[in-house]
Amino acid sequence: MKKLQIACDINVFETLDELPKHVQKLMLKAQQARANAHAPYSHFLVGAALELSNGKIITGNNQENAAYPSGLCAERTAIFYAHAQFPKEDIVRMAITAGSKNKEATTPIPPCGGCRQALVEYEQIQNKSIELYFMGTKGEIAYSKSIENILPWVFDKKAL
Ligand code: THU
Repeated sequence: MKKLQIACDINVFETLDELPKHVQKLMLKAQQARANAHAPYSHFLVGAALELSNGKIITGNNQENAAYPSGLCAERTAIFYAHAQFPKEDIVRMAITAGSKNKEATTPIPPCGGCRQALVEYEQIQNKSIELYFMGTKGEIAYSKSIENILPWVFDKKAL
């Protein structure tokens, strides 16, 4: 028997003011996108904003459906659109904000496992890390230097 230990480094900032202006701007875009989420079933609203290497910002939010599994998370809505429209651009960083409609979320809410898996694909395509910033609706912001950092022992094409 051998024991493996997998580390994951996260930095947590107390407020948005501690972050560089361009990251604050990206999170603001995510907050704006969150306001337009289509989430009539869960009432849980998520907004995501991606910054591309050409400086463009792409946003997305969760899109739910009466047939529940047909809906899609905010992160995937944003990244699929980004790569469909700008396949040659790298994704430099991503900001996410999430929380229930009528309740403030004061601690960072990380992307779900399915989104981590979807996001890591693009990190591998571009062979460059995607910086990730995620928060609830107010308060602390968590930072991960890459997607793979929060998806240890990733399943990827090397296994196929
Ligand atoms: N959701 C996201 O948009 N991103 C995540 O990473 C987790 C969950 C959405 C899906 C669904 O519309 C709602 O939040 C509740 O799960």
